[in-house]
Amino acid sequence: MLFKKNRKKNISFLVSGRGSNFEALAKQVKKGYINAEIKLVVSDKKEAPVLKKAEKMGIKSVFIDPKSFNSREAHEREILDLFNKNKTDLVVAAGYMRLLTPVFIEPFKNRIINIHPSILPAFPGKNAQAQAIAHGVKIAGCTCHFIDEGTDTGPIIMQASVNVLQDDTAESLSQKILELEHKILTESVKLFCDDKLLINDRKVFIKK
Ligand code: GRF
Repeated sequence: MLFKKNRKKNISFLVSGRGSNFEALAKQVKKGYINAEIKLVVSDKKEAPVLKKAEKMGIKSVFIDPKSFNSREAHEREILDLFNKNKTDLVVAAGYMRLLTPVFIEPFKNRIINIHPSILPAFPGKNAQAQAIAHGVKIAGCTCHFIDEGTDTGPIIMQASVNVLQDDTAESLSQKILELEHKILTESVKLFCDDKLLINDRKVFIKK
């Protein structure tokens, strides 16, 4: 997709839960650090705290119940339709606990950014921090990447690391990683919105 350079980008979010990554990013958009407008937050969970967080910030948020559709694809088509109506340039999946199908990924190819709490390709999927602790790694971290059809396999934009200490638990490690998540997600989205990301096969380059 061709963007007119420096045009303000429209961002829509997919979030299943707490929404601390959404909040961190929304603050940076509000401050003007990121040249974008947040159009919409969609959640697949009725009780997701993110819905109220968004509302408080004056951002439209909506629960779309997967159970009221007879397939994953039908649920995604509904979201797709809403995102298109909101002229979405970039989708940010920030703690969205559902795997997306090609129905959603194809039209947003290289325009869906995910934040994952491990240094990929290690520990994809659920409970990445607990997987890292169980494996006994000495360094853990997070990855910001574009979503493709695999589970946490898409082109990597940015990663950050943290030392795992002997007495770290999945909870303490998650907390340390979360702080880094907020940083790399903000920086990755900023680069996207400034038209600075170039994707060649599975490599992401940052334009100078
Ligand atoms: C984060 O750890 C993110 O990496 C993972 O889910 C968690 C979401 O946290 N995908 P929050 O909802 O942004 O607070």
